[in-house]
Amino acid sequence: MTNVPGLDFNRASETLVPDMCSPYKNLHDSYVPNRGSNRMVTVVLSVVYLMVLGALLTVSVLEKLAKDKPARNQNLPEIIIDQHNLSEEETRIVLVESIPLDVKYDDNATFGIPVEKAWKDLLSMANSQVDVASFYWTLTGDDINVNSSSDLPGREILEQIGALPSRNVSVRVVTSVPSVPTNSTDLEVLRQKGVQVRKVHFGHLTGGVLHTKLWIVDRRHIFLGSANMDWRALTQVKELGVVIYNCSSLANDLRKIFESYWAVGQHNSSIPDPWPSKFDTAINKEHPLLLKTDNVSSEIYISASPPSFCPASRTPDLDAILSGISEARRYIDVAVMDYFPTTRFMQPRSYWPDIDDALKKAVFERNVLVRLLVSCGRDSDPSMMPFLQSLDSFNFPAQHINIQVKLFIIPVGNQSEIPHSRVNHNKYMVTDKIAYIGTSNWSADYFQNTAGVGLVVSQQAPDRTWGTQALQGQLRAVFDRDWNSQFTKSLADLGDHSECALSRS
Ligand SMILES: *[C@@H]1O[C@H](CO)[C@@H](O)[C@H](O)[C@H]1NC(C)=O
Ligand SMILES: *[C@@H]1O[C@H](CO)[C@@H](O)[C@H](O)[C@H]1NC(C)=O
Ligand SMILES: *[C@@H]1O[C@H](CO)[C@@H](O)[C@H](O)[C@H]1NC(C)=O
Ligand SMILES: *[C@@H]1O[C@H](CO)[C@@H](O)[C@H](O)[C@H]1NC(C)=O
Ligand SMILES: *[C@@H]1O[C@H](CO)[C@@H](O)[C@H](O)[C@H]1NC(C)=O
Ligand SMILES: *[C@@H]1O[C@H](CO)[C@@H](O)[C@H](O)[C@H]1NC(C)=O
Ligand SMILES: *[C@@H]1O[C@H](CO)[C@@H](O)[C@H](O)[C@H]1NC(C)=O
Ligand SMILES: *[C@@H]1O[C@H](CO)[C@@H](O)[C@H](O)[C@H]1NC(C)=O
Ligand SMILES: *[C@@H]1O[C@H](CO)[C@@H](O)[C@H](O)[C@H]1NC(C)=O
Ligand SMILES: *[C@@H]1O[C@H](CO)[C@@H](O)[C@H](O)[C@H]1NC(C)=O
Repeated sequence: MTNVPGLDFNRASETLVPDMCSPYKNLHDSYVPNRGSNRMVTVVLSVVYLMVLGALLTVSVLEKLAKDKPARNQNLPEIIIDQHNLSEEETRIVLVESIPLDVKYDDNATFGIPVEKAWKDLLSMANSQVDVASFYWTLTGDDINVNSSSDLPGREILEQIGALPSRNVSVRVVTSVPSVPTNSTDLEVLRQKGVQVRKVHFGHLTGGVLHTKLWIVDRRHIFLGSANMDWRALTQVKELGVVIYNCSSLANDLRKIFESYWAVGQHNSSIPDPWPSKFDTAINKEHPLLLKTDNVSSEIYISASPPSFCPASRTPDLDAILSGISEARRYIDVAVMDYFPTTRFMQPRSYWPDIDDALKKAVFERNVLVRLLVSCGRDSDPSMMPFLQSLDSFNFPAQHINIQVKLFIIPVGNQSEIPHSRVNHNKYMVTDKIAYIGTSNWSADYFQNTAGVGLVVSQQAPDRTWGTQALQGQLRAVFDRDWNSQFTKSLADLGDHSECALSRS
């Protein structure tokens, strides 16, 4: 991955946050509003007004001004306190990506840091504890009976994880039953080296799967995104995620989700109802973590799925997506592998227009510009096509109704022997208000019985740092890069494409 020619992975891909991962004490009025965010304008005007009155400005006042929705849980503290000495933390939010081998872009394009590099760095900095959730594990070619030298990064990562227990780093892994069929020996190899493994019978618990992909390192750093513990996720599948370094508040929050899987991963367990209070969170849509730095201020929270794994204080993943869509005023860009306004696996099949309706409403009522980028590969299900055509047909620019759908097709090239590869596996959304990075396809099952997580970030930054230091600005640049790349096709221009199964519908 690092040797893909012409790519400069170090440009414009890191957000350095020199301050601290903690609630900010005040808002700086030199911050430009977040691209048309009138909430920000309201806050600044209100601040001036309060100053005239000589009122004392407190974080809680600002939080109340910033949030006009009723709190999800009225008992939440106004200020999020962390156990660590916050002034010692240097939080960084970093966009990470895997670009499959032989996929070339313009030299000037924006890229995340390679997932391979981010993972290796996280493993080498680990000194006490690594927790990993992944749908399945196939870090070597042998695991899927494939002989490809492009599995090397996967094998190196398996090696690195296996070496952690001997460095006194405790490693816990949760994975799903059912899962994808493999001949994987990864977890057996890791167990023998001292890694603790729990297979969570999501099939029994909810009828779904544990589809989450997350890491927590030393209770300080996290990874979350579309990449499974799969060598193909490093070299053959296009992936997108985020790493946040030095943010123990968020790491501890994500750990509550990991601990919920760990708890039900015990033999013969059931889903607690309600979940014990230690699974409650103080960080959600109504009370995001506030992070202020020199150049960027951010509001962040983690959403989760399915609802039966969300205590009342945890924002469900679908709510995070729907509120992201309904708050957008100018644009909504969505990149997902699969998009179905229906159930896919649950029986009986049912129609599920929650997201579809929200998108059409945004387009029709608020004239928001919507772009939907869906993956198409050899295994894509042609029955997705009518739903994409339906959204695409809604486009009517003369009436200020703008919604476009494109397919992203990764050339298979000479990698045709590798199954379930050469797809755009990423799952994210960027609007004029938020960036959302998730682990779920957009279909009903993922929000009803399947485990997933999402990270929602809303930022303000001066124009000069927006595109380089705000995750939101970077994610938009990545979306634009893909949307305008040679790998996309509009539905009308698809024709007969041998590498896209939707063209045969
Ligand atoms: C936090 O760390 C800083 C720098 O090491 C130190 O000056 C300060 O006293 C510490 N604060 C607390 C509350 O421990
Ligand atoms: C985390 O913060 C510490 C202390 O500020 C700093 O030395 C370290 O480089 C940071 N780690 C990362 C990965 O940014
Ligand atoms: C990159 O360069 C190409 C021409 O080489 C240009 O068309 C494109 O707009 C540039 N993209 C960005 C993001 O600057
Ligand atoms: C597992 O190994 C068997 C025997 O070699 C093979 O037939 C099967 O296709 C393999 N399964 C996968 C998923 O690679
Ligand atoms: C795998 O492929 C390489 C090069 O293509 C070859 O040298 C090697 O013998 C193959 N290994 C197996 C087990 O087939
Ligand atoms: C691991 O921890 C044990 C007990 O705390 C200690 O004796 C040993 O030296 C440690 N090993 C390493 C490699 O740090
Ligand atoms: C699960 O628990 C039930 C009751 O608690 C018990 O009867 C049953 O044998 C257990 N099943 C297994 C496989 O341990
Ligand atoms: C803030 O942005 C300016 C450039 O706009 C840059 O020089 C400076 O290093 C940034 N500060 C941090 C802490 O990243
Ligand atoms: C595979 O294709 C790429 C680009 O199309 C090429 O650079 C590479 O040499 C090919 N590899 C083999 C083994 O044919
Ligand atoms: C969703 O994504 C998974 C992998 O993340 C993929 O295997 C599956 O086929 C996708 N499609 C649907 C409709 O679930």
